[in-house]
Amino acid sequence: MLRERPFPGFGLGLRKEHYQAVVAGSPPVDWFEILTENYLVGGGKPLYFLETIRARYPMAMHGVSLSIGSADPLDRTYLKQLKSLVERIEPLWVSDHLCWTGVGGINLHDLLPLPYTEPVLTHVVERVLQVQEFLGRRILLENVSSYLQFPESEMPEWEFLRQVAERADCLILLDINNVYVSARNHGFDPWEYLEAIPPERVWQFHLAGHTDLGDRVIDTHDHPVRDEVWQLFRQAARRFGPTATLLERDDRIPPLEELVQELDRARALVRDCWR
Ligand SMILES: [Fe+2]
Repeated sequence: MLRERPFPGFGLGLRKEHYQAVVAGSPPVDWFEILTENYLVGGGKPLYFLETIRARYPMAMHGVSLSIGSADPLDRTYLKQLKSLVERIEPLWVSDHLCWTGVGGINLHDLLPLPYTEPVLTHVVERVLQVQEFLGRRILLENVSSYLQFPESEMPEWEFLRQVAERADCLILLDINNVYVSARNHGFDPWEYLEAIPPERVWQFHLAGHTDLGDRVIDTHDHPVRDEVWQLFRQAARRFGPTATLLERDDRIPPLEELVQELDRARALVRDCWR
């Protein structure tokens, strides 16, 4: 039985460039999302800021190292570090990506797409169950943006994502920008993707900017959200109802106030949809 989806509101990805501004002021942000790997340390400045900011805001943990689709065994050391950070900051939830990041012990430092086949589905589901058992909680998996597809795939990405979530009883972080980027790169209808995803599984949205090269769209996170993605977000807000929404920026990071304003645009748009 699925618990009712929490709705903490509209959040920002916490970046070190904004630590001082967040601590000094009280920006009107409902919650922050942290990059888990930045805080898997015993002490120091990042943990100081993490705990200070956590005392004032709800937080979600977002990781990039689970490599849930890899053929390598799950990294037990990483999982233990993850669990101890979970105990330390008591996040709203823990997320990572539906991807693989390396094999044979080599980390490629990229979120790579999987072949969407039945054996890979079984493999991923088994590993999600193991991670959830170890952490004692369900995790959210995010759809990644991609630039290539495997000819072996037997089903579209949205079907694979839905089946992983249902069979492993995990939750979904739906990145609206990634749906748009992959739709453009592979020529599918992004609405078809959204329509296939069960709303009760989607606990969070991501919004971010991309770079449009015409024949290729790159997920750069270095621009404001583009109009095409705002449009898709509006459709998503109608379909999925109140869903925690998070604005990501990872490069060319502007002053905090600029991101707060952009987040206000998401708020206004959603308010409009639900009116
Ligand atoms: Fe994302």
